[in-house]
Amino acid sequence: MNANAPPLADALHVAASAWRGLRSGNSLDRALAAAMDEFTSATPVPPHPRLAAAAKDVAYTATRHLALIEAMLEKLAHRAPHPAVAALLAVTLGQLLAPRHATYVVVDQAVQAAKAQGETRAASGFVNAVLRNALRRMPTLRAELEQQPTVAFNAPRWWIDRLREAEPAHFAQILQLQRQLPPLVLRVNRRRDSVEAYLQRLQSEGIEASRVGPTAVWLHTPLPVADIPGFAAGDVSVQDAGAQLAVQLLQVEDGMRVLDACAAPGGKTAQLAEIADNLTIDAVEVDAVRAERIEENLRRTHARGHALIRLLVADAAQPARYAHGRYQRILLDAPCTASGIVRRHPDIPWLRRPADVAQLATLQGRLLDALWPLLEPAGRLLYVVCSVFAEEGPRQAETFASRHADARPLALPGIGESQLRLPPAHGSRWLHGLPSVHDGFFFTMFEKT
Ligand SMILES: C[S@@+](CC[C@H](N)C(=O)[O-])C[C@H]1O[C@@H](n2cnc3c(N)ncnc32)[C@H](O)[C@@H]1O
Repeated sequence: MNANAPPLADALHVAASAWRGLRSGNSLDRALAAAMDEFTSATPVPPHPRLAAAAKDVAYTATRHLALIEAMLEKLAHRAPHPAVAALLAVTLGQLLAPRHATYVVVDQAVQAAKAQGETRAASGFVNAVLRNALRRMPTLRAELEQQPTVAFNAPRWWIDRLREAEPAHFAQILQLQRQLPPLVLRVNRRRDSVEAYLQRLQSEGIEASRVGPTAVWLHTPLPVADIPGFAAGDVSVQDAGAQLAVQLLQVEDGMRVLDACAAPGGKTAQLAEIADNLTIDAVEVDAVRAERIEENLRRTHARGHALIRLLVADAAQPARYAHGRYQRILLDAPCTASGIVRRHPDIPWLRRPADVAQLATLQGRLLDALWPLLEPAGRLLYVVCSVFAEEGPRQAETFASRHADARPLALPGIGESQLRLPPAHGSRWLHGLPSVHDGFFFTMFEKT
């Protein structure tokens, strides 16, 4: 093990506690934060500075194999172990399935982690036996269990069915891709650097990268933001190449009044200020804590130097509370199931329930209806979701158009159609069309007649 790394036993311990949080319905990030707090308050010395990152890696790795791990545990343990023991076994199996350390180290550290806690101490022999058995049976067991679609695609049955319905020709490819690690993509702030110059800068610092969209640069090996050249100075921001497309499709012109209706953490608000001069932007966000992140992003990217930006903490569905007149462009980057960004958030399929899809589609419809009267005649509204489900995409667009006779579907620039379904992809070269490496999105544009 790396001498500068925290003990794997501690990372397994924190990740196991987060796993329990996840399996009782909390997002993995929230569960990890709670598990770290618990670990810190239970230990007399401050934790290793890299423990949170190591535990996150362990927990995310296990979540990318969740269905396989739980199916393996059913086969390996004759009766259901105590939840704390099951969680420790689960995250440890993740380390055995995606090896980063020698297997004997992983097993030894899991046994140490079991011995270190009251709830698992008596089961340390059992943990050892199950893990050794898992190692012996791993190849056959894995091949056998991967016959089940839920295991092969690491998603619940209903999730797979929804995706098959939305993308009959590509659903298997999408689900396979969603099991991979997410790419780290940057948006180059063209006010500060050209994409070519930024690529050269990366090359001179020995960082491998390639252009994957008009302003998008993919770092082949992810880096912490603190190590990304020019990040702190606002030369670049972390933003998926598909997400970057939204502002590009909105066709904003200098001096326009723009409403960014669901704005946090402010990636697209800052991008708007990068692509046109003297915009007046109302950035609305319902969650006050998330709204603080917009301010941070605006400050870091110097956005206020180029646009008049009002940050409004409000429900976008209640325009009387925030709207300043009418807008020439409206961007609705709506809350959604996030089924297009599972690479980044592998916990999503395990947190959502089938009824969430209809509930979110209803909320999106309500937001669309509330925003539409705010658009000037000849103004344009772009609706975006990072979802690949039909209810939140094409069907949402159709029902919206059927409710509003003055909403004319408008061809998206460079696309030729008024709707763009962008399934997640990891292509090879950007050829001046759609980005080549990106998450899954749906875009549609309406003009007011
Ligand atoms: C997909 S995210 C937006 C990402 C953002 N546009 C960016 O590019 O950084 C959706 C946001 O909508 C916010 N939201 C959800 N319901 C809302 C509502 N009724 N009014 C305003 N914001 C809302 C969520 O809190 C979340 O921050």
